[in-house]
Amino acid sequence: MAERKKLNDISARHDGESATASMIRVNQAGEYGAKRIYAGQLAIMGDRTDASRSISHMAEQEERHLAAFDKLIAERAVRPTALQPVWNVAGFALGAVTAALGPEAAMACTVAVETEIDEHYSEQLEELGGSDPELSDMIADFQAEEQEHKETALAEGAERAPAYPLLSTAIRLGCRAAISLSKRV
Ligand SMILES: [Fe+2]
Ligand SMILES: [Fe+2]
Repeated sequence: MAERKKLNDISARHDGESATASMIRVNQAGEYGAKRIYAGQLAIMGDRTDASRSISHMAEQEERHLAAFDKLIAERAVRPTALQPVWNVAGFALGAVTAALGPEAAMACTVAVETEIDEHYSEQLEELGGSDPELSDMIADFQAEEQEHKETALAEGAERAPAYPLLSTAIRLGCRAAISLSKRV
């Protein structure tokens, strides 16, 4: 009986979860995924090429984004995504496969991912308005770096990747699916 009541309480809390809790969950999941993508790319590329130097720089910035959302998830007692083990493997695999196709494909991956993340962060900023300045400031700060990642990757030849339109579309669709899942799960 007590157990059932406890379960009901948990599901009630879950259903009534604030919109910001869902935002924090999906953002933490996304920054984690980004970290794993770059880890997969660097595992294949090593650390001696020009491309891997810019990827290492982006990866360091993703670490900062992830650390900030990890902290916020703990401070606000937000349930993290249950899909972290999936993003661990899928992110790394996406990074490794694109890097194996070559440095331009690795950069095409960044352009596709950051295009989706940029839109996602814009939507969140609009939805938040002035309601949660701490969260909005973080999102705006990180969004600026995501836009830089996209610019860097374009400058490093992303659009010269083999089968660029197909690669880009596939990765963007994958990101959208991951975002929509991590909002809830
Ligand atoms: Fe990021
Ligand atoms: Fe990024």
